[in-house]
Amino acid sequence: MDKWQEPNGYGPNPWTPWPSYLGKFVQFEPRLGSSNTCSHGFKPFCHPAHGVQLGLNPVVITSDPKIAREILASSHFADRPIKQSAKTLMFSRAIGFAPNGAYWLLLRKIASAHLFASKRIASHEAGRQMDCTTMLSAIADEQSLHGVVSLRKHLQAAALDNIMGTVFGKRYNMTSTSDEARELQEMVREGFELLGAFNWSDYLPWLSYFYDPHRIIERCSALVPRVRKFVKKIIDEHRQVDSSKLSDNSDFVHVLLNLEGDERLEEDDMIAVLWEMIFRGTDTTALLTEWVMAELVLNPDVQDKLHQELNSNVGNKNVTDSDATKLPYLQAVVKETLRVHPPGPLLSWARLSTSDVHLSNDMVVPANTTAMVNMWAITHDPEVWEDPLVFKPERFLKTEGGIDMDVRGLDLRLAPFGAGRRVCPGKNLGLVTVSLWVAKLVHHFKWIQDTVNPIDLTEVLKLSCEMKNPLSVVAIPKTGVQLTRGQGLIKFNVM
Ligand code: HEM
Repeated sequence: MDKWQEPNGYGPNPWTPWPSYLGKFVQFEPRLGSSNTCSHGFKPFCHPAHGVQLGLNPVVITSDPKIAREILASSHFADRPIKQSAKTLMFSRAIGFAPNGAYWLLLRKIASAHLFASKRIASHEAGRQMDCTTMLSAIADEQSLHGVVSLRKHLQAAALDNIMGTVFGKRYNMTSTSDEARELQEMVREGFELLGAFNWSDYLPWLSYFYDPHRIIERCSALVPRVRKFVKKIIDEHRQVDSSKLSDNSDFVHVLLNLEGDERLEEDDMIAVLWEMIFRGTDTTALLTEWVMAELVLNPDVQDKLHQELNSNVGNKNVTDSDATKLPYLQAVVKETLRVHPPGPLLSWARLSTSDVHLSNDMVVPANTTAMVNMWAITHDPEVWEDPLVFKPERFLKTEGGIDMDVRGLDLRLAPFGAGRRVCPGKNLGLVTVSLWVAKLVHHFKWIQDTVNPIDLTEVLKLSCEMKNPLSVVAIPKTGVQLTRGQGLIKFNVM
């Protein structure tokens, strides 16, 4: 069987030369979320499995859950293609880009046994509560000052503070203007831009010698020493205090410094692993929460139903992680948002084949091929999901005739965290944070449309798939709900 041959009626030869597709691929990015994606002009990307040549790189893209499972679960696809920016920013030593092998396996072991152990996630609840409380009161202030709230910046500040607390044990109060907070925000923004930028040299390496319009190499080289200095200072501060005793709520630096024997990491490796967490954990959480809130405003019946669930199960007390996991409608709302707006983009999470692989549709994928799963196409496929464009959390409620689905990589009809050996190690942390924050946002405010800036669900594909125009909404405070900050209580001024 010839490479790329695909005998199942999807065309005689799914291989397409790069000049015709490279252009389409670049256009495809901002149009990912268009409901027309599969029907107008982008058929190749919604194909069950299709090969294209992207620059010098062969690429296979699938939108079939069965083929997606074969790719994601296969040990032959356990590498990732590494972008030039990620390599220059030291990410080849971090979990997400380290090649399959002893070092990456060690990092995965450290992640599951220590960093993302259930006990550690649970014991960081106090931080999640605190960052959410700070966000809720900033939202209340903006609402009473301007009559409207631009939500994304609040979510991003809370998510960045929260991940900094979990990873470095330090919060910078992102709403403050301190030099350290500003330096951190600038480094993170620059990193996101560099990692998210489409770089032609990733597909035509020789181009970098004379065509680098975003100055990627130069900017990455300038960022690395700043990041190294910043993270090294935090590691040194941890070394100075007695860090021998680990507890469940120890931060990631503390955990890495306490590894023993073969598990011990070099300082540069620690910097790469820790810094990567900031990129993986911040925008994914903030942008998913923004999508949930946009859908709740556009679907007031869903928001009312969620309110009722909170009122009857939690009443006026503070919502906790343990409450949030026991609220089926809340969980269904988060799952439905992950279905309609899966945040994981194609390129950043692509896989790389390490040998020739024969897929069950008889397609043979050569070694060193980039493989992408178009999760957006799967979650919007009418053959997989009934009324795929309708936001209907009830589809995940067994009591209402829906299915009880685990979204953490077991069922490829909805796998927003990927699947298999490289499945997202932060999935439980991401889900617990988004569930708690959505519950608290809805518990404390009624959310309605900003008539001046109505919600626009246009998607744009960057490092995550985000709303092109950040969400602007009206947040009407509710009375009588407890909001704890540390030991104290905050009260809202009711409009
Ligand atoms: C809503 C939240 C999140 C979503 C939707 C998400 C999505 C993803 C996806 C799709 C992958 C690729 C999986 C694959 O190739 O099969 C991934 C990998 C990864 N994620 Fe997440 N993620 C989220 C939150 C987080 C958080 C909070 C962290 C850490 C603090 C994190 C850390 C990572 C890392 C380190 C990898 C690379 C794993 C590897 O290559 O071995 N993620 N994530």
